[in-house]
Amino acid sequence: MKKNTLVPFFSLILFVSYTPFFAQQQITDITVVEDSEAPIINKHIYGHFAEHLGRCIYGGFYVGEESVIPNTDGVRNDIIAALKDLNIPNLRWPGGCFADTYHWKDGIGPLNERPEIVNTWWGGVTEDNSFGTHNFLNLCEVLEAEPYLSGNVGSGTVQELADWVQYTNFKGTSPMSDLRRENGRDEPWSVKYWGIGNEAWGCGGNMRAEYYADIYRKYATFMSDADMEGGIYKIASGASNDDYEWTETLMKNIPRSMLQGVALHHYSVIDWGAKGSDTEFTEDLYFKTMQESWLMNELIEKHTAIMDKYDPEGKVDLIVDEWGGWYDVQEGTNPSFLYQQNTMRDAMIAGMTLNIFNNHAKRVKMANLAQTVNVLQAVILTEEKGQKMILTPTYHVMHMYKVHQDAKLIPLSFTSPEYTFEGSSLPAISVSASINDDEVVHISITNIDPKKTNTLTLDATSLHIKKIEATVLKSEKLQDHNTFDNPDKIKPTEFKNFQLKKGKLEIDIPPFSVVVLKGSH
Ligand code: AHR
Repeated sequence: MKKNTLVPFFSLILFVSYTPFFAQQQITDITVVEDSEAPIINKHIYGHFAEHLGRCIYGGFYVGEESVIPNTDGVRNDIIAALKDLNIPNLRWPGGCFADTYHWKDGIGPLNERPEIVNTWWGGVTEDNSFGTHNFLNLCEVLEAEPYLSGNVGSGTVQELADWVQYTNFKGTSPMSDLRRENGRDEPWSVKYWGIGNEAWGCGGNMRAEYYADIYRKYATFMSDADMEGGIYKIASGASNDDYEWTETLMKNIPRSMLQGVALHHYSVIDWGAKGSDTEFTEDLYFKTMQESWLMNELIEKHTAIMDKYDPEGKVDLIVDEWGGWYDVQEGTNPSFLYQQNTMRDAMIAGMTLNIFNNHAKRVKMANLAQTVNVLQAVILTEEKGQKMILTPTYHVMHMYKVHQDAKLIPLSFTSPEYTFEGSSLPAISVSASINDDEVVHISITNIDPKKTNTLTLDATSLHIKKIEATVLKSEKLQDHNTFDNPDKIKPTEFKNFQLKKGKLEIDIPPFSVVVLKGSH
């Protein structure tokens, strides 16, 4: 296909994604596409997700005020510091599947009066409700992150969710805001983001899309915008992977005025019955995981096309509120707790997926990595018995990419070299770029080819870059990961394999690495 630098932005995305790749290509030329309507990369694309699941909340974030581990109101200080440094823009809670079993009133008021409950989705363990609404919303304030509350539709009531909104958001006198004050909080938290159920097609109630669309309308009707400037932002439980009919049914049947976001869940899992080891995997399994991760590009484009049909003005956002790698749990851990290690393979998933989100920033306005601590593709792991915590390769990728938050996308045109394995191919390189308010340009590049260095060139004259600094995340083996005994085995280092001559940038991207370049005047 002939390159065309004057294509509108959306056509450009299709061009980048579907251009056939040429084998044996040694050097890849990247071109900057002038586009006055390029979107801002919403910072919420870099969001996170913390469920009452395994050791994410209890024994992860929350150790209790009496713990010997330094904490703020029971939440580990080292986790708070790490997440603040990551600039996490939002945090989704309390689920996931757990959300549709959660009755928020169980988690407020004096600790000794809170009922014990059973977490039926995740291991049948008993929880004492010591971490509830106040703990979560106060934590979000400390983190300077927007809370995203997932409401219980599956086993809750319309009144219960309407009450939660009033409890968190209403300033004046009302039954719920008075109760909030009794529980020690005067000012409302003003929670903007609300999910109306989770995976309504599955653990959220096994509903049909038509039925859920009606249920959604009913719940949304009673969630009050009172005291919320601009109103609350309601997110419909979205499709699993390629269930395009689900998105179509919601877009067709829910009035625009009631719907701000439609969710999408996609995990990089190779086979739900045989997910494979988190740390001991062959190239075959690695390639399959990369295929699943790259599928995100197609899923976003096809769900977006349906949304465009019903909402050409782009008023409803696509919210990928669960994504990440999913493998068998670490040996010896509770199978329901979904505790897995995090290797360079996960760094590849993160680097590629965040580039996909950035390049689709026109419709994708929020995404939430599953999950923050000790569950699935976590950014932080904590010891079960000891006090140590580690930052994973995924943490480092998100840290390197945080520079894109709220920056303006710079659309790029290029044809990726191929990563070929046993006759199948994937684009080896994913890349996205942005320019921030200080006119600093950032380019993030992920090379998933485990064997080949890929050389890229970019004519950066139009970006007026004079000086470049760069960091890289790489390691010797794909299976490498940080451990409690060797927490810094994988961490970003300075990257120098590039040259800038007369505005032309040439970069050698090592095998399975992530590179972020910072270009300034
Ligand atoms: O993230 C783990 C689970 O995956 C969530 O609870 C659910 O929404 C999804 O199926």
